[in-house]
Amino acid sequence: MAVRVVVGAQWGDEGKGKITDILAESAGAVVRYQGGSNAGHTVVVNGEAFKLHLIPSGILHEDAFSIMGDGTVIDPQGLKDEIDGLKARGLSCKHLYVSGCAHVIMPYHRLLDGLQEDARGKDSIGTTRRGIGPAYTDKTARMPLPVRMWDLLCKDTLRERIENQLAQKNTIIQQLYGHAPLDVDETLDEIWPAAEALHPYIRDTRQLLLGRVDAGDDIVLEGAQGTFLDLDCGTFPFVTSSHPIAGGACLGTGIGPTMIDDVYIVAKAYTTRVGAGPFPTEDTGEQGDLIRERGHEYGTTTGRPRRCGWPDFVVIKTSARINGATGIALTLLDVLDAFEEIPVCVAYEIGGERFDTLPSQADLLSEATPIYETLEGWSEDITGCTTYEALPAAAKAYVEAVENSTGVPVKFISVGPGRNQTIKR
Ligand code: IMP
Repeated sequence: MAVRVVVGAQWGDEGKGKITDILAESAGAVVRYQGGSNAGHTVVVNGEAFKLHLIPSGILHEDAFSIMGDGTVIDPQGLKDEIDGLKARGLSCKHLYVSGCAHVIMPYHRLLDGLQEDARGKDSIGTTRRGIGPAYTDKTARMPLPVRMWDLLCKDTLRERIENQLAQKNTIIQQLYGHAPLDVDETLDEIWPAAEALHPYIRDTRQLLLGRVDAGDDIVLEGAQGTFLDLDCGTFPFVTSSHPIAGGACLGTGIGPTMIDDVYIVAKAYTTRVGAGPFPTEDTGEQGDLIRERGHEYGTTTGRPRRCGWPDFVVIKTSARINGATGIALTLLDVLDAFEEIPVCVAYEIGGERFDTLPSQADLLSEATPIYETLEGWSEDITGCTTYEALPAAAKAYVEAVENSTGVPVKFISVGPGRNQTIKR
């Protein structure tokens, strides 16, 4: 048995779902440990592509437990819609469980996320406007009592929570943002049908999960977003409000650090970012556009075009350390097929000083000049390669450059969207 964590190495959208799906083949449980419907991945069910935001990618393996852990934030209507969609495609969702301790994204969280972003104007974070930040803010504020999944089990309790929350939130909504107040009963009516439909899924997932660990099952703990969107370790303030890093897997599931056997960081072969914030290797010209088109770099959740740029080994190396990576999954390597040369950032120059890892003072990054080394491209189609040996020499040299820079072995290489387009080493 092994407990494995899958973490995004960069700023999210690295293709974690595909790696989780492969690891889930032998797993007894797949657990999302943070985030909410700000994430997004596409799964193919009976030949039909289906977009998921909350439910772990492991749901396709019907006998494994699919768990949304304590550290996630749940939009009840969004979750109900995903469950209905999967059931309509023939999946039973019989082992889908949501932690009662997960906090609920309420209509006022979504409203406040939008009002706050609009008020920030040119300084906006570029959030997904799904209410993520305001929901986690209420969790850390603790009072008045925010709504957790447990509270959806009783309509009277839910009403009381909403009443107390709106007594405070409506002052902010009206006086700070000049928006009409929300009504307690309308809010309750909006949320109750979905809340009730979710009752069968609400559990003490910590106990469930520890039971699977004791039974000797393989467990996959799946992060959403990426290392540098982490609230503490990311490029603050352009981050999400939870902990995507491997340490977050302990916080968001109740599994202790010494129970974790492997941490796989999933790194895209180039770099992307959605929303605002520093991005040293961004290419806003034709080459960046070519990466975007070849990599289909448009957000699953918001449809926004992603910012694209060159491989940044400083980011991957720092990520390997923060997460204590034992292996790397390198994804979308085939996107680089089109380039004769690949500039790879090996360090930054900031204020005359060289940085080989990311400085924790993230605002320094906006002044960083990347120091590039140029690797030879392979200029051929690698989407049909099924073994490491079959890759062109220059592609292997690229993979080995990632390993040399991080000191961590590359264990998976993805050369296309299909399950069979993944080379295991
Ligand atoms: P929030 O998580 O909606 O509060 O957004 C905070 C920042 O994280 C914004 O820059 C978003 O674009 C980014 N973000 C949130 N979720 C994802 C994701 O799944 N992939 C990539 N970026 C994300």
